[in-house]
Amino acid sequence: MPLAIALYDVVLTIHILAVVVAFGVVFAYPLLDAEIRKAGPAALPGLHRLHLALAQRLITPAMVVVLLAGLYLALDRYDLGDPWISATLTILVVLFGLVGAVLTPTDRRLAELAERDGGTGEDYAREARKAAIVGSLALALVVVAIFLMTAKPGA
Ligand code: HEM
Repeated sequence: MPLAIALYDVVLTIHILAVVVAFGVVFAYPLLDAEIRKAGPAALPGLHRLHLALAQRLITPAMVVVLLAGLYLALDRYDLGDPWISATLTILVVLFGLVGAVLTPTDRRLAELAERDGGTGEDYAREARKAAIVGSLALALVVVAIFLMTAKPGA
């Protein structure tokens, strides 16, 4: 049997790889954060700058690859109007918004506050709560997106 690899399968592999790269690290955040926090207040600015670097240089670019590869797959074999595709597209747009408009500025502010008072102030506690709630919401959306992509309800 000749070995023929369809472009579709290559793009699907890229799509799934980009999902792993974009979101895999986010599932490790609770453990990563807990371990770094054990090092004390001096480690907090570094923790928030690490989140920032990951969001800007890894997660967002990988999400762009998820989007572009996903659009190719959808247009090649499906339809952007298919509910499981349009719902996941909406989730991805919301994720771009949460990362760019909420989580990134919040982490920048947390880094500044941690540098100023070691994360002991009320402002720091409030921003950290916001980051935890929005971060959990983003993770839940990723889980829903993976379910929709895998089960393809209505397809
Ligand atoms: C958070 C965003 C996304 C995640 C986590 C995600 C995840 C996945 C996963 C895990 C698969 C493999 C499913 C399987 O083979 O059974 C897949 C396939 C696919 N995804 Fe996504 N995806 C996302 C966004 C998108 C977007 C925005 C589009 C389209 C605009 C899209 C279109 C597709 C298509 C068409 C397939 C191929 C299904 C197949 O041929 O079996 N994805 N996605």
